[in-house]
Amino acid sequence: MKILSVLGARPQFIKAAAVSRVIKETQGLKEVIVHTGQHFDKNMSDIFFSEMDIPNPDHMLNINSLSHGAMTGRMLEQVEVVIKKEEPDVVMVYGDTNSTIAGALAAKKLHVKVAHVEAGLRSFNIKMPEEVNRILTDRISDILFCPTDTAINNLKKEGFDNFDINIIKNGDVMQDAALYYAKASSERSSIIKKLGLKDYILGTIHRAENTDDPERMLNIVNALNDVNKDIRIVLPLHPRTKKILKKLGLNLEVDVIDPVGYFDMIELIKNSKLVITDSGGLQKEAFFFDKHCVTLRDETEWVELIQNGYNILAGSNKNAIKDNITKMLSKTSDFSLNLYGEGQASNIIAENLKRL
Ligand code: UD1
Ligand code: UDP
Repeated sequence: MKILSVLGARPQFIKAAAVSRVIKETQGLKEVIVHTGQHFDKNMSDIFFSEMDIPNPDHMLNINSLSHGAMTGRMLEQVEVVIKKEEPDVVMVYGDTNSTIAGALAAKKLHVKVAHVEAGLRSFNIKMPEEVNRILTDRISDILFCPTDTAINNLKKEGFDNFDINIIKNGDVMQDAALYYAKASSERSSIIKKLGLKDYILGTIHRAENTDDPERMLNIVNALNDVNKDIRIVLPLHPRTKKILKKLGLNLEVDVIDPVGYFDMIELIKNSKLVITDSGGLQKEAFFFDKHCVTLRDETEWVELIQNGYNILAGSNKNAIKDNITKMLSKTSDFSLNLYGEGQASNIIAENLKRL
């Protein structure tokens, strides 16, 4: 069984690290990797491959920094060439980026099976590029690996039971990665010591719905700058946000650092008092490492975290952000709930791929 994995953006490298490891150990499965090039800075791409021992990409497409149409279109064209050359049994895509939809569409048009990992998630905000990518990728996939019951129910409500698509609840591959790499991160990362960190909040911000809306961006920056006067905020800055802050002339008066590798990120989460983010992955990782999270969005795909009180949606209102941070900083919770499969998600993927 030859699997062609299409990767392109940071969260996909982390998800693929967990799955690639299991594929390598599973007899009868062989993986070929194509990297679209969507993320390309060393600390947005290479670092993950070397740190987490992901096999080097067999094909590098170097497609990035373009509009949605141009980026997705060029990826579609070039992934098609790779599929024709490699003749895989299945093309595997992850998450909800432009690399995801491009890989799925290229495969489907060539009648090659598509497996979508992290399927069924919905924010119900169709203006988000991620929501468009998810809905379309799910619909043209042959096998959907869903992380949660909510994801399965979303698909049912959209009538997916009527389609010839195999729907599987496998849990969250990001939890597999978090559990597996946490040991290496504590041995190999020295970021806490290097930055002299003690009581701090970890923040990230990069989603288009925030960065591309100057008012939201201004409110978030003001809220973070205010909070930082009382408790230090450490914020690895995504290149997208860096560019936009510069363009808007906004100044983040918090501890801004360059994006970090996954090992440093795990240590930053583990040692923090709280996570503030608009990232999908980080909302779950906060939970994996027993931290509360304040999400700088109006909705989330990871609703079980909200329902169980681990996470709270603060939107982009300055006072709401500050109030929710205060509230979550003083909260205590039992984080032992099994919401994401406890590290078995990649094994379930491999078992099902063998049977395809
Ligand atoms: C993409 C995904 C988003 C995901 C995020 C993960 C889409 C539509 N969006 O958003 O869902 O949450 O990745 O981080 O696929 N840039 C660099 N260096 C890099 C990477 C990006 O400078 O290594 C710059 C690009 O040149 C571009 C901007 O950041 O100007 C945005 O990059 P892009 O890949 O279009 O989208 P992301 O915001 O990273
Ligand atoms: N991440 C990282 N270094 C950083 C910021 C994020 O390793 O400087 C990791 C983070 O821990 C998570 C993943 O990248 O595993 C999430 O990616 P991102 O926030 O870029 O995208 P999203 O999950 O929102 O799609």
